[in-house]
Amino acid sequence: MPVKEEPKNLPWVEKYRPKSLEDLISHKDIISTIQRFVKEDKLPHLLFYGPPGTGKTSTILAVARQLYKPSEFNSMVLELNASDDRGIGIVREQILGFSSTRTIFKSKFKLVILDEADAMTNDAQNALRRIMEKYTENTRFCLICNYLTGIIPAIQSRCTRFRFGPLDMEQMSSRLKHVIQEENVECTEDGMKAVVRLAKGDMRRSLNVLQSTHVGYKLVNEDNVYTCTGNPLRSEIQSIIDWTLNESYTDAYKKISELKIRKGLALQDILTEVHLLVHRVDFPSNVRMMIVDKLAEIEFRLAAGTSEKIQLGAFVSAFQCARDPIVAEAE
Ligand SMILES: Nc1ncnc2c1ncn2[C@@H]1O[C@H](COP(=O)(O)OP(=O)(O)OP(=O)(O)O)[C@@H](O)[C@H]1O
Ligand SMILES: [Mg+2]
Repeated sequence: MPVKEEPKNLPWVEKYRPKSLEDLISHKDIISTIQRFVKEDKLPHLLFYGPPGTGKTSTILAVARQLYKPSEFNSMVLELNASDDRGIGIVREQILGFSSTRTIFKSKFKLVILDEADAMTNDAQNALRRIMEKYTENTRFCLICNYLTGIIPAIQSRCTRFRFGPLDMEQMSSRLKHVIQEENVECTEDGMKAVVRLAKGDMRRSLNVLQSTHVGYKLVNEDNVYTCTGNPLRSEIQSIIDWTLNESYTDAYKKISELKIRKGLALQDILTEVHLLVHRVDFPSNVRMMIVDKLAEIEFRLAAGTSEKIQLGAFVSAFQCARDPIVAEAE
């Protein structure tokens, strides 16, 4: 965490980690509230929660950078994450020791960052309760987690909570465009859309997908992005639906099986994409309802860890059963 010269081979997620609060592209209201706290020197204990890759760690690091000079950093900030032991022993020794000692910089408080705090044991969290109260005068805590339920209510009530929701598509695209320009990435419009679609609001994932596609294929277009991430291509999904609707059960099953093995596709991913396509194809509504219902059932069973082979059979059957109603509807 100390500020130093950046090595050249950093992955893009780190290279483009926002350095200051202004660089963060989302959650403007949260950022401006925190800015105000900092400006008025009234920072409360903080609790950030939300899905991965939405800027929680980046935000608190930017706050820390704004609060302290690089020379103060090590003595004023204690950052512990899930890779550090944070059992009750550490809370009693390291955190207590850090929080209870007075700072040499008068009128400045120290900052304890507990990243991935939902992984801390209940005992450790309980031990934190009193420490947070007792040393509020010279220490502020910032807890970060993915799930609020992992944090005991007593700690929640001592903190000001902020929820970092998934990033919206436009914010992600604009940040990606910036990286694309800086790194001279050859990227098509549909390639960019595919990256954003696959990342589902997770900025870290989008940067990783962009970088691996760029490294693996040079050109970032839709097909390369889907192949790189092991997702079925749109043309493949189209063929799968064609086979299930037009070929015999055995042929369709064989062809899909063969495609799955050749491309290393998971039935789960095929389902997700097929589901999207089913909504786009102009099926009669009763047929669509039937298919979607069956796809949902298969997805549920797959999640429970059932056999892919049997579920693939069920998948082909779902479409084969839809044939008669489609024909009947057409007549
Ligand atoms: N709001 C944002 N603005 C700009 N870049 C972002 C933003 N959110 C995430 N990123 C990018 O994603 C990377 C990961 O973000 P960060 O580590 O802050 O996520 P996080 O919310 O702490 O996720 P996790 O819950 O997995 O720890 C950053 O290095 C940065 O490149
Ligand atoms: Mg984090």
